[in-house]
Amino acid sequence: MEIDEVKLDSILEKYGRDKSLLLGMFQDIQREYRYLPKEAIKYLCERLNIPVIKGYEMATFYKALSLVPRGRHTIHVCMGTACHLKGAPGILEAFERELKIKRGGTTDDMLFTLESVNCLGACALAPLVRIDEKDYGKVNQTGVKKIIEEYKSGE
Ligand code: FES
Repeated sequence: MEIDEVKLDSILEKYGRDKSLLLGMFQDIQREYRYLPKEAIKYLCERLNIPVIKGYEMATFYKALSLVPRGRHTIHVCMGTACHLKGAPGILEAFERELKIKRGGTTDDMLFTLESVNCLGACALAPLVRIDEKDYGKVNQTGVKKIIEEYKSGE
């Protein structure tokens, strides 16, 4: 993919070209592109005199960083104990069915990435789904369809 070198240079400057701040630079890039393009890893590592392999190690170590393009919205289905007991597996399946993707996947229109997580810390609302920063509590399978529609119509 084409990367915007001017943008990457400005990120380098923002962090004072300090190689110990590479993680922060990666996070900025991820915010910009919604993932970390391998060309960007290479570009930064070369400018900072870090072996590119080290950049990859960091990028794969931190779960918050993604090497593959992600959807505009990330759906987290909580699979912690409380949510599990209240039917989270069925909720996850409903999202998979409606979006025609599997857990970890991204829809072809790049609108959604679907993930599962362990306890989002609001067990009283089980089963809980978090989309970006917004929580949906006591979700049922019919609700899944509605939630997806809500996001689609907001585009
Ligand atoms: S188990 Fe789902 S929020 Fe705690």
